[in-house]
Amino acid sequence: MINRVLFFCFIVMAFSGHAVSTDNLVLGIFNNEQCLQCHEKTDGDLIGGWRNSAHASSEPVIDCVACHGTEHESVAARARQDQACIECHRGAKGPVVHSYSTSKHGVLMKIQVGQQGWSKPLSMANYRVPGCAYCHMHAGEHDVSISVRHDIMLKSESVQDKMRAVCQDCHSSRYISRLLENGEAMLEIARKKVREADNLIKQAEAKFSEQQLAPVKQQRLKMQQHLLNVALGAGHQSPDYQWWHGQPALDGDLLRIKGFISELPTIE
Ligand code: HEC
Ligand code: HEC
Ligand code: HEC
Ligand code: HEC
Ligand code: HEC
Repeated sequence: MINRVLFFCFIVMAFSGHAVSTDNLVLGIFNNEQCLQCHEKTDGDLIGGWRNSAHASSEPVIDCVACHGTEHESVAARARQDQACIECHRGAKGPVVHSYSTSKHGVLMKIQVGQQGWSKPLSMANYRVPGCAYCHMHAGEHDVSISVRHDIMLKSESVQDKMRAVCQDCHSSRYISRLLENGEAMLEIARKKVREADNLIKQAEAKFSEQQLAPVKQQRLKMQQHLLNVALGAGHQSPDYQWWHGQPALDGDLLRIKGFISELPTIE
């Protein structure tokens, strides 16, 4: 019966172009402007959070529809699932998602994705495994930049109390502190390799031309991604990822940089 009522509303709406609400449920297909129009009034804080986020300041803007889709039915459940985030964050093979999918969480999620329900707010801790939104938007906060910002990756102090509290839905605080300290130590090793490269390049700049050093600078750029891979492996709790795509890649970069510089002809 209820389905039929909803279906009827949908039809009315499709023809009138207006939202119709029964039992306080809004049905229909909307564009981003319409989402904002209604929700600006009722969810000012939420919209404000979104406006402060890296999503709203991206070009193009990552708007409501990017995560929620256009259809109002199941509009929240859809956004809670990993599919809402994966494609845009460079897909399953990109570092952000790959570092998650090779973690225990990612593996368990793959097995249990159908059993998670998705209809309950994430903060009700009604989920066994955390997905992207569970960690990054745990209280429905739409500022994804509150606890994680890509410009200050994994200084463990930067994994704010908010993110720790999320972990503690399921793990003990002592365990989490250990993990974060370990992650920070691994990241410090990675940063050391980058600093070593920077020192070598600085010395080389006194001796060689910009053009001669072009391949060295190319290699230095790659270190940025490999450093991020270490941070992502640590943040997303995938030791494998941190190892295979982070530390040895940095070692390789450093070796190549040394090699390039040692082969340059010295001008005396
Ligand atoms: C005509 C006004 C209106 C428009 C347009 C509208 N909403 Fe809503 N929205 C509501 C109302 C009222 C509720 C609460 C009742 C309900 O869940 O339908 C709501 C609820 C929601 C919820 C919570 C649902 C839940 O299960 O807890 C989300 C998420 C949401 N809207 C997102 C959106 C997005 C995204 C758009 C644009 C695609 C949008 N809304 C367009 C009025 C609107
Ligand atoms: C990065 C993805 C993303 C974007 C962008 C996004 N949302 Fe959401 N939204 C979510 C997720 C995930 C949830 C579920 C949070 C939860 O379970 O507490 C949610 C929940 C909501 C809710 C329900 C909040 C509640 O407390 O019940 C509303 C309303 C909503 N979003 C509206 C919007 C509007 C309007 C926009 C555009 C300004 C928007 N969202 C943009 C992912 C997003
Ligand atoms: C349509 C594209 C798109 C979607 C969908 C999307 N994101 Fe993003 N996200 C971006 C872009 C672009 C940035 C900013 C640049 C960057 O960090 O890559 C970003 C940044 C972030 C950041 C870093 C914030 C910062 O301040 O650096 C987090 C965390 C994040 N997104 C989580 C999510 C989660 C969780 C979801 C799904 C609920 C999601 N995103 C959905 C495109 C998207
Ligand atoms: C168990 C919690 C958790 C889950 C699940 C999770 N993340 Fe993260 N994410 C983190 C932490 C912690 C960091 C790093 C925090 C720091 O460095 O301060 C991070 C970092 C990020 C960043 C920043 C990377 C950058 O460019 O600097 C993005 C984007 C992101 N996650 C997106 C996602 C997406 C998309 C998913 C799902 C495929 C996901 N996360 C799953 C906790 C999580
Ligand atoms: C919703 C519950 C939940 C949340 C939230 C959560 N985890 Fe987990 N975590 C699990 C489950 C379930 C496992 C798998 C346990 C097992 O091995 O049986 C797991 C496994 C892990 C493992 C692998 C342990 C091992 O034995 O290999 C690490 C590390 C971890 N979590 C860290 C974190 C961190 C850090 C956070 C917060 C950023 C977090 N978790 C948030 C549920 C959660």
